[in-house]
Amino acid sequence: MATVKEIMASSSEWIESSLAEVFPQNLSEDITVKASLYSLTAGGKRIRPCLMFVTASMLDCDLDEVLPFAKALEMIHTYSLIHDDMPAMDNDDLRRGKPTCHKAFGEGIALLAGDNLLNRAYEILFDACLSGDMRKIRASAQIAMKAGIGGMIGGQSIDLDSEGKEIDLDTLYELQEKKTGALLSAACVTPCFLAGVTPEVQSIVQDFADHLGLVFQIKDDILDVMADPEVLGKSVGKDERDGKATFVTLLGMNEAQNKLDEETTGCLNSLRKLESFGYDTSDLETIVKFLSERTY
Ligand code: IPE
Ligand code: IPE
Ligand code: MG
Ligand code: MG
Ligand code: MG
Repeated sequence: MATVKEIMASSSEWIESSLAEVFPQNLSEDITVKASLYSLTAGGKRIRPCLMFVTASMLDCDLDEVLPFAKALEMIHTYSLIHDDMPAMDNDDLRRGKPTCHKAFGEGIALLAGDNLLNRAYEILFDACLSGDMRKIRASAQIAMKAGIGGMIGGQSIDLDSEGKEIDLDTLYELQEKKTGALLSAACVTPCFLAGVTPEVQSIVQDFADHLGLVFQIKDDILDVMADPEVLGKSVGKDERDGKATFVTLLGMNEAQNKLDEETTGCLNSLRKLESFGYDTSDLETIVKFLSERTY
């Protein structure tokens, strides 16, 4: 069975060099391109491309066909981080172990760098769709939907609107499922569109991804309290500082850990169902365990 290190190494061999080349060479001196690449190539776990890689491999997709979707998704995620860190949102100085984009380039250019990554991601998706292949059009449409007001942007909207407020558990779940779960879900579901799996299999993958999104964000909330910033690559203690509604601030550390365990079990149950369809889920299981126990 492959270790998480081996899985991540294969995934990064697949994606890393092409992420560095997402903008035309003749624009490399443009300040917004520099700022975009500063954030995009700063590292990060690359968990969304990695999940797409592992799910696509499980479903026996052509990985060359999947690559543009993984690039676009990581670009959309990086744009969301640049904007999330800006003073008007979470006002953070450290990201991926480096000064945040606006600290390094100023707020105006950081704003444009986020916009630029988002826009370029859609150019890449449109390019992949030009052949008229319906599988790719459907995959792109769901990425757009999960990045938008029904997904990540919608979650960020509830996150900001909930600052300093006591929200109920349903709203907390909605916030977390959208702001973080949606892009993780896009990572797992895109290969389903490309592989053309049955609606039944797609719905199990969707359930798996929903649980995984919660595992990921509950752990993010826990790490905001417990992690070493040197290892985490971002500052800690921000959620309490900003009156954010999180699993930890709302339910306390013990209950947050219980919810994390519950969602981890939910992931593993979905994987058992996929196995009954003959899929080898061992790499996805390794990723689930890594995400629930991670320190960064
Ligand atoms: C951080 O995402 C923002 C959240 C959605 C919680 P990651 O923890 O995946 O950040 P990187 O990509 O590794 O920097
Ligand atoms: C941000 O959530 C999720 C995004 C859509 C970027 P957080 O605000 O909790 O992410 P961190 O902790 O700054 O990475
Ligand atoms: Mg935030
Ligand atoms: Mg933040
Ligand atoms: Mg956080």
